[in-house]
Amino acid sequence: SLAHEIDFEIHPSQTPVPAAERARILEAPGFGQVFTDHMITLRWTEQRGWHDGKLEPYGPFTLDPATAVFHYGQELFEGLKAYRQDSGSIVMFRPRANAARFNAGCRRMAMPELPEETFIRALELLVTQDREWIPDGEGNSLYLRPFMIATARGLGVNHPSSEYMFCAIASPAASYFGAGKTVKVWLSEDYTRAAPGGTGAVKCGGNYAAAFVAQQQAVDKGCDQVVWLDAAEHEWVEEMGGMNLYFVYGSGDSARVLTPALSGSLLPGITRDSLLRLAPTLGIPAEEGRLSVTAWRDACAAGELTEVFACGTAAVITPVGAVDGASGGWTIGDGTPGAVTQRLKSELIGIQYGHQPDPFGWVYKV
Ligand code: PLP
Ligand code: COI
Repeated sequence: SLAHEIDFEIHPSQTPVPAAERARILEAPGFGQVFTDHMITLRWTEQRGWHDGKLEPYGPFTLDPATAVFHYGQELFEGLKAYRQDSGSIVMFRPRANAARFNAGCRRMAMPELPEETFIRALELLVTQDREWIPDGEGNSLYLRPFMIATARGLGVNHPSSEYMFCAIASPAASYFGAGKTVKVWLSEDYTRAAPGGTGAVKCGGNYAAAFVAQQQAVDKGCDQVVWLDAAEHEWVEEMGGMNLYFVYGSGDSARVLTPALSGSLLPGITRDSLLRLAPTLGIPAEEGRLSVTAWRDACAAGELTEVFACGTAAVITPVGAVDGASGGWTIGDGTPGAVTQRLKSELIGIQYGHQPDPFGWVYKV
């Protein structure tokens, strides 16, 4: 197949960030503000398929103003992390799952799929070249952002773009919300993120573009993040703007967790999937189901629903302490991080950083 022929030319940067400056950046990396010295680019045309793969110095693109992505938003991205383990090994977490989700997104967005091996090879090359950029320290990692844009020139909308560029960049990252943070969430009833048949289940930029106005509203109401509800009734909980949600019932030995089922309009998060598999091995039953806002509020009031947390690559596991919405709000438990949330977080991080065995084969050595 074509997959075997795709290779990447290596063009190292002649002007990498000096080591002392990099060290200063890595002490407090933040999220998504600083990028490493290199990037991957790869082109697709109808005639040649995938070709012209390069590892090259990080830098701007030159694109014609009539390039398709600027007008119709044919774009898709992924997010995953590389970790420096205690042993010195460098690993990525479940990159095959990201490759598979990327290709599912390509099908929905009428974009050409990228062979999984090529997706992983691209990331491996970038991580290897820029390995000095992986920060040490619990909670720190190198966030990888592969993405694809439509690059054909022209304003017609009778067919998808005939040319594409795949690119991957990398950014040293601390935890998204800052350590120990508990978030307050806003139930969005005015806006809809995704509807049946739409693009909610894929990581296309348009989903995020349409969400900023609700995120602004959440901040105006004194909240940190939006909780999106179903499009038809604004009653069934789906997910947050960049994270999935988990609900903890009971406590101690009788604790169990529930996450909204994949309705077709929420993102099938890889952290979400990992926890569905990990929790039962810790004696915490985990199920997918439907939860209404009313049932959420009532179960909190009854003391049955004890904890809520958000999960995702950037957010890892972040406790939700309180909820607000147009018809009032409530506190979850006593508003502080719960024991089940903290246990799941430490077990997941344990696998990622190599403090714990990896019985699932999730960790991919670079
Ligand atoms: N939901 C949305 C809308 C997201 O953007 C993300 C982030 O990637 C997630 C959920 C969590 O997915 P994952 O665990 O694969 O990072
Ligand atoms: C991720 O967790 O990878 C995300 O994409 C979340 C957000 C920064 C968009």
